[in-house]
Amino acid sequence: MSGAKRKNRRQATGRARRASAARKLRVAVVIGTRPEAVKMAPVVLALRAARSRFETRVVLTAQHREMADDILAHFGISPDQDLDLMRPKQSLFVTTSRLVARMEGVLDAEKPDVVLVQGDTTTTFVAALAAFYKGIRVGHVEAGLRTDDKANPFPEEVNRRLTSHIADLHFAPTETARRALLRERVPSGSIFVTGNTVIDALLWTKGRLPRKLPAVLSRVDTSKRIVLVTSHRRENWGAPLVDVCLALEDIATAFDDVQIVFPVHPNPVVKNTVTRILGRLRNVLLLPPLDYGAFVALMSRASLILTDSGGVQEEAPSLGVPVLVLRRKTERPEAVRAGVVRLVGTDRKRIVRVSTRLLSDRAAYRAMARRKNPYGDGRAASRIARVLAGLRA
Ligand code: UD1
Ligand code: UDP
Repeated sequence: MSGAKRKNRRQATGRARRASAARKLRVAVVIGTRPEAVKMAPVVLALRAARSRFETRVVLTAQHREMADDILAHFGISPDQDLDLMRPKQSLFVTTSRLVARMEGVLDAEKPDVVLVQGDTTTTFVAALAAFYKGIRVGHVEAGLRTDDKANPFPEEVNRRLTSHIADLHFAPTETARRALLRERVPSGSIFVTGNTVIDALLWTKGRLPRKLPAVLSRVDTSKRIVLVTSHRRENWGAPLVDVCLALEDIATAFDDVQIVFPVHPNPVVKNTVTRILGRLRNVLLLPPLDYGAFVALMSRASLILTDSGGVQEEAPSLGVPVLVLRRKTERPEAVRAGVVRLVGTDRKRIVRVSTRLLSDRAAYRAMARRKNPYGDGRAASRIARVLAGLRA
């Protein structure tokens, strides 16, 4: 081949490469808090696995600092942008205003074709709003969860409703979520039922668990039945959280063969109440927030879970561990309908009564301790990637 021909061919290959690079969809995945990190990690891994189609940029607002960092490290993901937003005891006002201001520069620098947000946090809503201001398409992962009560959970119910108004693509985890979106007149062609990516994260992690419990769980007494507890919801701050802690004290006192293990959310409002009431009890082990691997290991060994967390309600049924939900309402009715999750609220007597029955009555326990997967099959992220692959850059 002559020198001129070789040059022409090189130029043509270069042009083809640039054209194909230009056709890649540039996706900014925005993550703020622990649950977003868990649920977006599989999406990031799926998009990165299809690197010929996507240029994936991870934007960490760090609305949560250590908790989001730990989760991303667990999945081997390092952010491309880190806004380092978290401040101790941050208010909704300050987080919202600082984030919306910072997002302008991020979007100008990253120039994504699509912004993906997840769930219902301040990061979710504000990042969606910022993308809308810039005329960038928004994909909402875990769309369509509803309690239809603005105050429960607060402020998440409103965050996710507003995000649904902004989003162009709605990745609904279940049929129930899809129907909720249709009721709000979201166009059916923009809704995709994918399953919840939390199950992808859970299965990915379960498959990599070491046989032994990690060192951070060395004080867990494996000769006892483990009652695992988490709590952080804003609407439970104050009297409801005090009631929950008093109920836990009653259970710890009544059952000698039970250890209550409570990884405490670092929010000072939560941490101070929990430590004051439960800090010195014999059968109660308070721990710092756990990295995802340790938490999944603990969930897998638990006899019972008491929680107000959204994500834990979705994960536990896949592990066959009964869950009592410390909330008045849930936007995740599927597992309640399946009989493996029960709403108990925050009333001290009710929590003690229902927990006592499950810890003492084998038949009642067996009826709830069944493996169910209403939230997904572990392939939600690849379904999301497939939908995105159909978009034009
Ligand atoms: C936030 C979300 C909530 C989500 C929860 C998951 C909003 C309004 N709330 O609530 O929807 O269910 O995360 O956990 O978006 N902190 C640390 N280190 C951390 C994380 C938090 O010290 O890694 C402390 C800080 O003092 C921080 C405070 O917790 O100011 C509150 O964090 P914030 O994200 O505002 O609220 P959460 O209650 O965590
Ligand atoms: N989680 C964790 N470590 C903990 C407690 C929870 O990794 O110490 C995980 C849990 O498995 C779930 C997610 O964090 O995937 C839930 O986060 P959180 O309860 O903070 O938020 P929510 O789901 O209520 O929005």
